[in-house]
Amino acid sequence: MAFKFDKDKMKYLTNPDDYKSNWEWTKSNSNYHFDKNTVDGEGETFRVCGTFHGDWKEELKQVIKDSKPVTWATRGKKGERKDKFIEQEEYDLTSAGASADLEVSNFNRNCEKYTKINEIAEYFKLENFQKRIHVQTTGQVWNLHIDKLYQFNPEDPSKVVRITIMLNDWEPGQFYMYGNRMYERWKAGEIHIFDWPNTPHSTANTSYVPRVSLQLTGTRTEDTDAILNERDHYYSVE
Ligand SMILES: [Fe+2]
Repeated sequence: MAFKFDKDKMKYLTNPDDYKSNWEWTKSNSNYHFDKNTVDGEGETFRVCGTFHGDWKEELKQVIKDSKPVTWATRGKKGERKDKFIEQEEYDLTSAGASADLEVSNFNRNCEKYTKINEIAEYFKLENFQKRIHVQTTGQVWNLHIDKLYQFNPEDPSKVVRITIMLNDWEPGQFYMYGNRMYERWKAGEIHIFDWPNTPHSTANTSYVPRVSLQLTGTRTEDTDAILNERDHYYSVE
């Protein structure tokens, strides 16, 4: 399961109060190389772990319809985030000349309403996990960042995993980057994980098709590991 950069660092190494920029603070906590001339190899920063087969197109239409735009400040559930982080995240945007209200994606937080998609979410036997559907529409950009997921299991953050399942096919004009390697050409149902404590990543949609992905974040169990290790396994959702 190990990624190239995850080593054994599973805690914050520096104090966020010493930083104005969230990007700089999260960088100071990462083992990633941050060298654009070092090309990241396959499987070093993210890994494709299998594919779901099935037809959830009808549910997807409703998922898209029911999704709402979010910014960095509004992406969390109320009270979930420390204001300090949002201040730093907005500082990064405005210092670069962008708006603090940049729309990063649309969210649909009601995964349980969609039977087939929820079946996919439950498949991984995660514990204490968050289900969130991202619908990135034309023009939305999730600027470069490193995730802060330690709070999903403060006692043992090494157990935290973020699993992404693409719910529709890749389209030209959809960009998804981990480290300096592009993730692309996926088909609906493809599953991937990434080295969340270390790997900078970003997404953008310049196509005319909403990019829909299911994001699961929580504590992995032995069952989760077994499922994720079966790279070429196919799962069926009827
Ligand atoms: Fe992220």
